[in-house]
Amino acid sequence: GPSAALIPAAGSGTRLGRGPKAFVEVAGQSLLARSVHALAPHVDEVLVALPAGTDLPAGLPARAIVGGETRQESVRRLLQATTAERVLVHDAARPFVPEQVVHALLEALADTGAATAALPVADTLVRAGTGQPGLDSGLWGDLVAREDLWAVQTPQAFARALLLAAHDQARSEGHAATDDAGLVARQGVRVRLVPGDARLFKVTTPGDLALAEALAAAWDG
Ligand code: C5P
Repeated sequence: GPSAALIPAAGSGTRLGRGPKAFVEVAGQSLLARSVHALAPHVDEVLVALPAGTDLPAGLPARAIVGGETRQESVRRLLQATTAERVLVHDAARPFVPEQVVHALLEALADTGAATAALPVADTLVRAGTGQPGLDSGLWGDLVAREDLWAVQTPQAFARALLLAAHDQARSEGHAATDDAGLVARQGVRVRLVPGDARLFKVTTPGDLALAEALAAAWDG
């Protein structure tokens, strides 16, 4: 059946400090344009949620809607704006999308109806300790076993009806989530973890933007 890429791009980009993040350019191309061009070849339509009062840049093969107050609300609006049977949800803030990850996600989707890109955690993980008041965030607390821990990325692939049901349920319960796969898993649905890619990192801080600039040189060839 038909498929759609849903791109939440309505964030304000506060931590980056360069205006709405999706419009920030890396090596001459916006984060949004990079995500749209990466996904368009794999789906029948691309839908983008933008901040109110902004427009889709000319020439992008996509349709725009106004996003919501939260990422969760932006995705819910995107889901309501399409009748596609399968959806790929992807953060505009992750501009480098390897084609093989998209292929692997679409394959896994056929299995369970839900799949996400994710990376096994490589670093040692520690919880910040409870030291003296005011120092809590700077002290070594308990180690967290990193075996079996994965860092969740996007794209994420879903049967649209399944994700919409998970969103409706979360909304009616006032449950807030940062991630769509988590909403679906909460419904008891099995979500396949598909090997992601370090290049799928989310551009959040000015330091991330410098990293993206460096990567773009190799990526754009
Ligand atoms: O803020 P964060 O980087 O976690 O946002 C992840 C993605 O969700 C970004 O692409 C951002 O534009 C999008 N977003 C949205 N609507 C919001 C907040 C964030 O579409 N209200």
